[in-house]
Amino acid sequence: MAKFYDSAIKKVEDNCLSQWRRELLGNLSGDVLEIGSGTGVNLKYYPKTVNKLVLTEPDSNMRHILNKRIEESDKDNISMAHYHAESIDLPDESFDYVVSTLVLCSVKNPLNSLTELKRLLRPNGQLILMEHVAADDNPNLLNWQKRVEPFWKWIGCNCHLTRQTENLIKQAGFNSIQIEKVSMLGAPSLVKPMIKGIAQKKT
Ligand SMILES: C[S@@+](CC[C@H](N)C(=O)[O-])C[C@H]1O[C@@H](n2cnc3c(N)ncnc32)[C@H](O)[C@@H]1O
Repeated sequence: MAKFYDSAIKKVEDNCLSQWRRELLGNLSGDVLEIGSGTGVNLKYYPKTVNKLVLTEPDSNMRHILNKRIEESDKDNISMAHYHAESIDLPDESFDYVVSTLVLCSVKNPLNSLTELKRLLRPNGQLILMEHVAADDNPNLLNWQKRVEPFWKWIGCNCHLTRQTENLIKQAGFNSIQIEKVSMLGAPSLVKPMIKGIAQKKT
């Protein structure tokens, strides 16, 4: 998966993901944590206003590529860690932003992960996210997602098709949520329904 990841997503990167990454990450500042960084696709979108960037990635093959990307980048404020999103051994309220792009579909426990991310955010800190989700507006597609999910998870490193991520964000206690529904152009129909935006941790 790690070896082929960048080429596998190239078409959708060109169609829409790169533009969304630029929009979501281009104005960040302060201290930023990213979960499930994978091969480091987001790295080039972080602006100079970011003070400290902590990239976490539990998969050692992904981390190998990520490490190379960090070394090649012109940024010297980046560190890398192996944490799973469900349990991140860093102090409460350490970050201004937490970034999750295409990760909450794959974590073992999305609610525990979101609760952990909220713990790590400072008051008024923001979760920045871009995730593919259940097709709640399209019963026929949702039905197919449910049917295919067991196989999809098996071939796709635990990637779930039917996660109701926006509901989980609310359950985790984020209280200012500005999320829009979008479609991942050029992706297989099963993963086309996406959400992107921000969720804030109010005091
Ligand atoms: C589809 S890739 C997304 C990579 C990158 N964030 C991007 O936007 O292209 C999903 C990533 O989530 C990671 N992942 C899987 N389970 C995780 C967990 N429990 N906590 C954090 N990351 C996890 C995988 O190792 C993989 O690198």
